[in-house]
Amino acid sequence: MHRFFVCAVMAGVLGSQVAIASDIAPTDVKFEDMSIGQSLTGVPGNPEEGAKVLANRGLGNCLACHAVTPLENEQFHGNVGPSLDGVADRWSAEELRAIVVNAKHIFTEQTVMPAFYSLDYGINPRKDLEGKTILTAQQVEDVVAYLGTLKEPE
Ligand code: HEC
Repeated sequence: MHRFFVCAVMAGVLGSQVAIASDIAPTDVKFEDMSIGQSLTGVPGNPEEGAKVLANRGLGNCLACHAVTPLENEQFHGNVGPSLDGVADRWSAEELRAIVVNAKHIFTEQTVMPAFYSLDYGINPRKDLEGKTILTAQQVEDVVAYLGTLKEPE
């Protein structure tokens, strides 16, 4: 049900963005070790847009599982996952891209973190999700750009 909602929102709000020819298709994304070196779009990510994706329940909904101090005015912060404060000190941009694209490649198959740019929905895939990702390629780049701003104070 939740997935359906995510897709309905995506289709409504972002329908025109879903397939941009120059984007790397989800099935063509190349993982090298634990990272993805190549931008999915070739267009630099916009951190402000990325912050919106993190907070948006219909998109990243990252705050349902992760606390982020600079976004603490946003609705709900969960603690299923670790706080993302200082995450740019722990992971490179290439690693952060890989985590957002498909966390299963970085953590374990059992991670509860959704794969945001993958067509691998696990067992029992649903017809209405076919060919769609939770985030667009550019939204992934925007999220990675925002995560890159999350450094611990010196
Ligand atoms: C359903 C819960 C859930 C959601 C939603 C979620 N994550 Fe996660 N995330 C986790 C968990 C749990 C981990 C820790 C790894 C593990 O145990 O699988 C994690 C780990 C991470 C890490 C590594 C953190 C570190 O300090 O090592 C990053 C970065 C991350 N998530 C970013 C995101 C972003 C960005 C989004 C939204 C686009 C998101 N997550 C959405 C559960 C979630």
